[in-house]
Amino acid sequence: MNKLLLLLSIIFSVSLISCEKTENEIIYTPGGRVAYPEELSAGNSTVFVTSSTAYDTPANWVTNDLASWFLEGDALYDNPRVSDGNLVNGGLGPVYAGYSCASCHNDAGRTVSTLFTDGGTGKYGFSSFLTFMRTPNGQYHREYGRVLHDQAVYGSEPEGKLRVNYTEQNYTFPDGETYSLITPHYEIYDWYADSIPAEQLEISVRTPLRHVGMGLMLAIDKNEIKQLASIQYPEYGISGEINWVTERNVKSIGLSGHKAQHSDLTVELGFLSDMGVTNSRFPHEVSEGQSQVDGDYDIQITTEDMAAVDFYLHSLGVPARRAVTNATVIAGKELFYKAKCHLCHTPTLHTQPEGVNLLDGTHIPWLGGQTIHPYSDYLLHDMGPELGDDFSQFNASGDEWRTTPLWGVGLQEVVNGHSHFLHDGRARDFTEAIMWHGGEGDVSRQAFANMSSEERETLIMFLRSL
Ligand code: HEC
Ligand code: HEC
Repeated sequence: MNKLLLLLSIIFSVSLISCEKTENEIIYTPGGRVAYPEELSAGNSTVFVTSSTAYDTPANWVTNDLASWFLEGDALYDNPRVSDGNLVNGGLGPVYAGYSCASCHNDAGRTVSTLFTDGGTGKYGFSSFLTFMRTPNGQYHREYGRVLHDQAVYGSEPEGKLRVNYTEQNYTFPDGETYSLITPHYEIYDWYADSIPAEQLEISVRTPLRHVGMGLMLAIDKNEIKQLASIQYPEYGISGEINWVTERNVKSIGLSGHKAQHSDLTVELGFLSDMGVTNSRFPHEVSEGQSQVDGDYDIQITTEDMAAVDFYLHSLGVPARRAVTNATVIAGKELFYKAKCHLCHTPTLHTQPEGVNLLDGTHIPWLGGQTIHPYSDYLLHDMGPELGDDFSQFNASGDEWRTTPLWGVGLQEVVNGHSHFLHDGRARDFTEAIMWHGGEGDVSRQAFANMSSEERETLIMFLRSL
């Protein structure tokens, strides 16, 4: 009798515990949808989309007037600009690198590049990359812009064309599996004016960044970033550093860009420098000073339109994680921690309670007070000379790069149809991306290399779930 009671109470309490456990694990999201907490990459900005629009879907809080504003910004971002003087979609050129934001950030991701398909600026295709260029003492070349404009409107010449050659080298993992890495070698040719001798030219070639979690990135609690920068792991050779950037005479924490060299979402700079669209912050044509430009131009986009694009970027949702209860994905997550990936690709951060203000001052409270999973510390790390570009930006040296946020990375193939990674897209898949990690990333590279091929695939399954 006593034994039976004991047994019954054990069964009861066990079922109670397991019941409580499921109650705890499953929560309700704002859209009324049932989800595991781990699926919520970005709190109330998480969206449950796994198709090619996964990066280009508004967060749930974007309703009514905000929804119209989002669509307005989305259209300004997507629609090709032309060379006439109209403010709605004019102002392109005379020289440019892209004809709309989306020409490089297709579906708010990374457009497939002619670097991979045509070996550089395509004959008809389009590189979608940015090639930063300057003199060895940090000045712009008089006849050229801040980036190489390899496209031009009718009547003007592109500044030059980019060519890339890849040399391939084969390697073997300790368990016998093979892989190869390709190293890019860049050259600018067909200069429209005087060609710049190699010793007078510093360049850095960069792939576009995915627009996953842009608003939340700006809303991050800056004390948390400072805290992360103060932690060092001498046993693994890892220590992240803040890129303090000075823009408009204000010193602040750099967050965006491959070297965290900007503290905003570069909307005004994108319009001017990438497309040649002058605006209130940058009223001078990017090609001013070139012999082929007459200097006759006005403001080519309104400040209101730029604010709409700024809002659009801030209000994009972040795709929810997939397959979080899958056994392989869970095992892959453990390997991610075991390989110390999490020491830079920080899984969890928080946004400041008050949210953020847009460039035009509009307050966006919904981005505040959220627990987010960007898988980045937004800090700079020395990744070794093989990945370096000798192109310092503020306190980011040539070998230093910002930890790329990995949220949404598992959907890049679905959204953009390719799996090229790293700042210049040289890694053709996840394995290559990891095997390029040198410098502070070497501890992870070694750990990954020393896994069995099955374990490596398991870790990659976890990356695919992000
Ligand atoms: C010619 C291609 C091209 C065009 C056109 C372009 N971008 Fe970019 N974008 C890039 C590249 C390349 C980077 C990464 C460069 C870097 O900062 O290191 C980038 C970076 C960004 C980032 C930083 C993202 C992050 O995660 O840190 C934002 C935001 C951005 N672009 C917005 C825009 C907007 C808005 C427009 C249109 C006004 C635009 N871009 C037009 C190529 C382009
Ligand atoms: C020392 C810090 C550090 C560690 C440790 C680290 N990473 Fe990275 N990771 C970076 C930085 C910095 C970049 C950007 C490098 C570049 O673009 O050249 C990066 C880029 C990546 C990318 C490319 C993302 C993209 O969209 O281009 C992937 C994937 C990645 N890391 C996965 C991992 C995995 C998996 C591990 C563990 C095996 C790991 N990283 C360990 C700092 C680190």
